[in-house]
This record gives sequence, C-alpha cells and structure tokens, in this order.
Amino acid sequence: MNAPDNSAVGSRFASDWLALRESADHAARCAELTAEAGAWLTRIRASNSAPLTLVDLGCGRASNPAYLASRLPGPQRWRLVDHDPALLESARQRLAGCQDAAGKSLDSERRQVDLADAKALPGLLDGAELVCASALLDLCSAAWIETLAEACAARQLAALFTLSVDGHWQFIDADGARRDAEDEWVRGQFVDHQRRDKGLGAALGGEAPAALVSAFEKRGYRIARAVSPWQLAPGSDAALTLGQALVAGWAAAAVEQCPAQAARIEAWQLARQRDLANGRCGVWVGHVDLLLLPPGSDD
Ligand SMILES: C[S@@+](CC[C@H](N)C(=O)[O-])C[C@H]1O[C@@H](n2cnc3c(N)ncnc32)[C@H](O)[C@@H]1O
Repeated sequence: MNAPDNSAVGSRFASDWLALRESADHAARCAELTAEAGAWLTRIRASNSAPLTLVDLGCGRASNPAYLASRLPGPQRWRLVDHDPALLESARQRLAGCQDAAGKSLDSERRQVDLADAKALPGLLDGAELVCASALLDLCSAAWIETLAEACAARQLAALFTLSVDGHWQFIDADGARRDAEDEWVRGQFVDHQRRDKGLGAALGGEAPAALVSAFEKRGYRIARAVSPWQLAPGSDAALTLGQALVAGWAAAAVEQCPAQAARIEAWQLARQRDLANGRCGVWVGHVDLLLLPPGSDD
C-alpha cells in the first residue's frame, strides 16, 4: 500500500489518511473500467429488479462505494467489509448519503471480518454480483489472491480492483520525471518494506496486480486493465498535503527497513519536503485498475 506507514498500525489505517488521499484517488481512477463494470451489471440483471449485491473488501471509510454508487445501476446493496469497526461505522454513515445512478438511496450491511480468515471469504461473496476493493491489493499475498480468485470463479463473480500500487513513484517537475539516485535508493527500501507481512501473508506490494491477473486469467476471466496514477503537480495543494504525507511515510518505512541509514533517510526527507513546499517538484505514484469478468462475459 502506498499509505504512509506512520498512519497505519499493522494494517490499520487512520481515517485522516484515507480522507486525505480520497480526491487524488477519485481523480486517478479509470472511468472507462467503471462504465464497463456498470454495463456488465446491467447485462446480467436483464429484467430482474432485485437489488445488486456489491461487496467492498477493505472498505475503510467507503471511498470506493462513494465513487462507484452513482456510476453503477441500482438498486444497490453494499456489503462493507473491514476489520476496523470505527472505519466500518464511518463507511455506513457515508453510504447513507449516497445514491445509485438512478438517484435512489443505497442499502448497506457491515461485516467486521479479518480477511486473513480464508474460511470467511465465501460467506462474504455469497449472493453477490461484483466484488471490489480499492487500495487493498498490495497488502495481499499470492495465496490470498488465489483463494479470492477461486471463490470468485466458483460464483461467476466479477471483480473490480482499483488503485493498486505498482511499486513506482517519482518526483516530477515542469520537465517531467526527475531522476535521482537517492530517490531510487529510498524507493528500493520502501518497496522491500511493502513486501512484509501486512496480515494477509507475505504481501506482494507492487507485484500484486500481476498476480491477480494471472490468478483470474487461468480461470478463464477476461481482464481489462488501465493505469490510474496519482499526479500531484508541483505547487498544487495535493503536492503540499498528500505529497508531504507520502514523503513522511516513505521515509518512515525506509528507516524501519534500514535503521542504520536513518540519518541519510532523514536528510533525504528534509530535502524533498523542502522541494515540495517550494513548489520545485510534485509527486507521481503508479497505480493500476483491473476489471475481471467471468467466462462468457463477451456473449
Ligand atoms: C489503504 S486502506 C483502503 C481503504 C479504502 N478501500 C479506500 O480506498 O480508501 C486498506 C483498508 O483495508 C483494511 N484492511 C487491511 N487489512 C485487513 C484485513 N486483514 N482484514 C480486513 N480489512 C483489512 C484496512 O482497515 C483499511 O480500511
């Protein structure tokens, strides 16, 4: 996950951090994949007017359903899944103010579940048409992704996984990407840190999107993919707020990964925070969106 590690305890994420990233997340998402998911849901519903059941894994404060609801057909019933009860309650309150594409209010149910419990997964997916998640995949292990793909395939369930980090980030200025050996060294520490166990087995970090594609492809799914990077322009509010939080988080993770180099990392952090504050650079963070449609979806 590209969240600053100082805002996460294990795999617990501060609500403030999730709120801070939300507008960059919504701006970065691929609208075409959402539209394709909506078209698929409309097709499979035909004339059935029962509510669609949409599952959001690792829902946090419901940023993902808040984005998707008005872009997908209704009626909708959201199954909000997280292990953090406070985030689940914020998510419930948030969805109470959201509408589907027809302007109708949404139904929701909360499931406080540790996704590490493989036995819980089938029950979370039963009766659903679409499972989605945003900014979750990097926390997951290869085994967890296989279990998810198997459970989805058994139910012919579509999946929409958005804003999954691909492991790349860089500073940008008016001429584009800045190349800097120290940035690359810190990024290397961060990438290694991302691969620690985040509660769902050895995390795949930026390798997770490829593992998801492979797990669903071998089960006959059709995959649509798009890039969805954050692009925080130099001098923008987002570079000053989200950008500075990112640098703090990357530095904290790098120090945890390589404590012997704490002074070097602190010097790097001070220099980058200064560059962001002066508008000399912005930040680019690589993400991937994936829509996975079950076999027969082309018919
Ligand atoms: C980076 S946040 C993303 C939240 C939200 N999807 C968004 O886009 O803002 C990851 C979310 O996954 C949840 N999470 C992490 N590990 C989990 C686990 N083992 N079981 C259930 N939820 C988990 C966290 O509580 C957090 O809400």
